[in-house]
Amino acid sequence: MFACLKSMLNCKHFGNCGGCSLLNLPYEKQVAKKQAKLQETLKDFWQQEIPVTVTEDPVYFRNKVELGFCHQVKWRENYDKKDPANKTRPLEFEQTLGFKLKGRWDRAVDLEECLLFNEKLVPLVSAIRTWAANENLPYYDQRKHTGILRHLMVREGKNTGEEIVVLFVTDDFNEKTFIAAVESVLPQANIMAAVNNGLADTAEPESLRVLKGKDHIFEKIILTNEQGQTERTVIFKLSPQSFFQTNTKTAQKMYSRVRRVVKQLAPKRIYDLYGGAGSFSLSCADLCEKSICVESVAPAIYNGIENAKLNDVTTVQFFCSRVEDFVREQPIERKDALIILDPPRGGMHPRAAKAVAQSGVENVLYISCNPVTLANDLKILTQYYEILHVEAFDFFPHSEHIETFVQLKLK
Ligand SMILES: C[S@@+](CC[C@H](N)C(=O)[O-])C[C@H]1O[C@@H](n2cnc3c(N)ncnc32)[C@H](O)[C@@H]1O
Repeated sequence: MFACLKSMLNCKHFGNCGGCSLLNLPYEKQVAKKQAKLQETLKDFWQQEIPVTVTEDPVYFRNKVELGFCHQVKWRENYDKKDPANKTRPLEFEQTLGFKLKGRWDRAVDLEECLLFNEKLVPLVSAIRTWAANENLPYYDQRKHTGILRHLMVREGKNTGEEIVVLFVTDDFNEKTFIAAVESVLPQANIMAAVNNGLADTAEPESLRVLKGKDHIFEKIILTNEQGQTERTVIFKLSPQSFFQTNTKTAQKMYSRVRRVVKQLAPKRIYDLYGGAGSFSLSCADLCEKSICVESVAPAIYNGIENAKLNDVTTVQFFCSRVEDFVREQPIERKDALIILDPPRGGMHPRAAKAVAQSGVENVLYISCNPVTLANDLKILTQYYEILHVEAFDFFPHSEHIETFVQLKLK
């Protein structure tokens, strides 16, 4: 499995760039390191070896990147803090476009190499950099909150080849020349502009408009059986804000794995809690009578409703609610149901974890992107449930993160 993954990958930005933190290790060693840490974090609950499904080709696996435009003080090599000449030397500034520097919210690397997204990203960044210089557009200064260019988001359907480029700005810009710059590298891409005047450094738009093509792309999840044969394909419509797992190829292995467990358990009803746009409900829609997808973010629910229609699924009911409120208002009672939990990095609200623990539902599947909060929630869940199985999926090569899947059964 690791035959092609033993050698080290190189990137000139490694060490500075916040995009990767483990690139100095061959992929095989990265996985071993994360597996050992996961094993240690879960040692009070699970002592058997936790198998890890790797990303088969850990280069160009991400389906989405968000880069920052930064107007920042120029870094001086060999800067001597004590040199009195620094007091009178004027500050020099530079404009960079790339991932944020490790541990910095106000500085970005000027991206010239990257192994995360696809081979067109660096030429695209370069074309946009040249365009911005020609148009004399200032990059955003995080400290003074001045400048026009803020973020560049690029999304690609890894199974469909569709692309969307979104430029986040604070003001008007020359749309015609921007479209030409993007088209010089990505002739087929959909292109959008998003206005963001908020103080927070997030790619959260106040308004979005299409400059070329559509306001979304499609991505497919191909679900396979144990022999690797396709069992079901689910189509997802992704707008710039939609949550979607960033590693399509490895995520579909995890969804396929969950599907196989659901097939075995044959529940009548699935509670898909922290459901996003309904990925689990839609992946398993042919395996149960009804799914209840609970998600707190309204646009994700709208996407979910559209995705259900797109896939001819009529059995998923979407609830826009926090899980901790949902379980208080609508106690989970069906004993022949299955609960799927996929909370964000912060884990579950204790009220939600307690309600699931006391639900009496026979089977629970927990998918986690943060082993530490998973361990916290397991403290509550294992008062009533025993753990049957734990495995992990490496969705995030070259970073410290790992996705964990835990199967629980009522004691
Ligand atoms: C890790 S994502 C999982 C999404 C989905 N299951 C998937 O596979 O695409 C976690 C989701 O939980 C949602 N969320 C966060 N806090 C929540 C809460 N308290 N109640 C309900 N949903 C929440 C987030 O908006 C996000 O869509």
